[in-house]
Amino acid sequence: MSLLLTGIAELTTNDPARGDGHSDRGDALLGVVRDAAIVVSADGLVEWVGPADEAPDADTRRDLGGRAVIPGFVDSHTHLVFAGDRSAEFAARMTGTPYDGGGIAVSVAATRAASDDELRALVAARVAEMRAQGTTTVEIKSGYGLTLDDELRSLRIAREVTPHTTFLGAHVVPPEYASDRAAYVDLVTGPMLDAVTADGPTSLAESIDVFCEPHSAHAFDGDEARTILEAGRAAGLALRVHGNQLGPGPGVRLACELGARSVDHCTFLDDADVEALAAARGTTVATLLPGVEFSTRSPYPDGRALIDAGVDVALASDCNPGTCYSSSIPFAIALAVREMGMTPAEALYAATAVSARSLGLDRRIAPGQPAEVAVIDAPSHLHLAYRAGVPIVRALDL
Ligand code: NIG
Ligand code: FE
Repeated sequence: MSLLLTGIAELTTNDPARGDGHSDRGDALLGVVRDAAIVVSADGLVEWVGPADEAPDADTRRDLGGRAVIPGFVDSHTHLVFAGDRSAEFAARMTGTPYDGGGIAVSVAATRAASDDELRALVAARVAEMRAQGTTTVEIKSGYGLTLDDELRSLRIAREVTPHTTFLGAHVVPPEYASDRAAYVDLVTGPMLDAVTADGPTSLAESIDVFCEPHSAHAFDGDEARTILEAGRAAGLALRVHGNQLGPGPGVRLACELGARSVDHCTFLDDADVEALAAARGTTVATLLPGVEFSTRSPYPDGRALIDAGVDVALASDCNPGTCYSSSIPFAIALAVREMGMTPAEALYAATAVSARSLGLDRRIAPGQPAEVAVIDAPSHLHLAYRAGVPIVRALDL
């Protein structure tokens, strides 16, 4: 049965052709329609969008009571498959202990020890938590297994809840390989990658990712990261990179050079990095993860400067047990607006349209698109940052 949604005070379509080109920087991109309606088909696709007084009839109707409706958030960077607790590490950081990636081994040990059903239940609870905060699409990385079997298991469990899975065997060098890093890179680029792609290039993972970070003894340098990404690309995977998180480094330029879909963190950038990102516009997205700067007491990247330089900027949560155990995109939006100089419109666009693009998706509310939308208990999307910390947005169950 088709459904007519009415009572939408403000609809963000992400379709500039539809909007009234309203003033705020970035607002034209959002394609905002006021007093809007949406018709959703029986199979969950958007059939019609426009002003409510022009809406066609449908089999059923639902009045949203003057709320704002937005495209569901696309969280394009998460590490949801993990067990164990690292809250003490967070507490230590708040009193001055710096983050260096060493705690990842704690999550690896706990994840290896967990049963499939325990991991499945943890992932399901985290995805539900996200949906309750407006996220309708999620990318999930492996990376807390770091053996062939444990990485495959993580990807299989992630695949049960999303097609957007990423092989992150190159998260860190696990403790048992600490004295032979090259052997671990060989394992990732050989047997692990072969197993991940055994049933077809993207049968288990859509992308490959690497923690390229010379400032962490546990992560991978530029040469190792290049080897891993080139192997992943040859195997048919899209590329993603954790780059320039703990200090300046080669990650951003490597990602741009290799045509990665996204390079994530981008906390420490020099002029050449920004130029490379601007030149890679349309191919490589800079995914900012301000929850990480919050949870690691790091400086925030200058989102304003990146947008002004012409860089495609996305926002995601990086929900993980170490650097940011927050699954909240509204929190990331509030930080982007308060700490990174982005307008509310730019932040919303970054957490929907641009993060979607980094997964090869189109996130507009337009005819033919899946009706993946979120509803805000407020008349406008401005309230996402304005009412920071208040649970006013959720995915709309149709
Ligand atoms: O995206 N930087 C590397 N990986 C994660 C953190 C993982 C952890 O500490 O458990 C991140 O920040
Ligand atoms: Fe991450």
